Amino acid sequence: MLELRNLVFEVPVSEGSKETKRIIDDLSLVIPDDSFTVITGPNGGGKSTLAKLIMGIEQATSGQILLDGEDITELSITERAQRGIGYGFQQPARFKGMKVKKLLEIAAGERLPMLSCNQYLAKVGLCSADWLTREVDKNLSGGEVKRIEIATMLARNPKLAIYDEPEAGIDLWSFDRLTETFRQIHDAGEGHSIIIISHQERLIRLADRIVLLEGGRVSAEGPTEEVMPQLGLARKMVAGCALTEPTRLHITEIPTTC
Ligand SMILES: Nc1ncnc2c1ncn2[C@@H]1O[C@H](COP(=O)(O)OP(=O)(O)O)[C@@H](O)[C@H]1O
Ligand SMILES: [Mg+2]
Repeated sequence: MLELRNLVFEVPVSEGSKETKRIIDDLSLVIPDDSFTVITGPNGGGKSTLAKLIMGIEQATSGQILLDGEDITELSITERAQRGIGYGFQQPARFKGMKVKKLLEIAAGERLPMLSCNQYLAKVGLCSADWLTREVDKNLSGGEVKRIEIATMLARNPKLAIYDEPEAGIDLWSFDRLTETFRQIHDAGEGHSIIIISHQERLIRLADRIVLLEGGRVSAEGPTEEVMPQLGLARKMVAGCALTEPTRLHITEIPTTC
């Protein structure tokens, strides 16, 4: 179980300034084991910052983070990763010279048989014949790097996986597969929890619980069927597109390509 207690994250209003602004504002939240939570909310609401605080990429100004009762607030990224937290970036890193197979093996912490590599890549809609020996460098598109990153998270299979906008830059066909993959992880019932930061109705509907984050605070939280109506979902105004987006959240951009 992950527990956030009165978490605050402040940054200077401008470089060198003593004046600060709150990005995360006294936030308390519990993520139970075996749960599937979607964190949604308007752009700039603090979702990515919250994910970075949980992973240890950013340090909280005050408050506590507990994982299975242990205070991990002061632990490094590596120590948190060792305890089972995995984080998929909104904009993943690229590595010159690093081949996809190697990246999957580093994530899994062992040499992987070809069949496993094929399965991880297939789940994100990539054919391993084309992809295993490719480098994860600047020649790949944002969506391709994103899919590879999700495949590495699947290989790592962390106890608590946090995916920040996994839909970003991903085509609709792969998005379907991805949705199916998240559903399978969820249904596997291995005690693993997933947090997905997303604006996508289909991903939101998969979740057990929705957390609505606005202005660095939790403005709504609860079972999906209770919070869903508050989001005011409406069809996206693009011809031929079947996706919907939450209107109440003032989201300016839904990056999934239709
Ligand atoms: N290290 C930082 N320094 C200054 N501003 C930051 C920092 N981290 C986040 N912010 C600001 O905090 C707000 C929330 O950002 P973010 O967590 O990325 O929101 P979201 O993911 O919900 O769109 C934004 O206005 C962003 O510019
Ligand atoms: Mg974000």
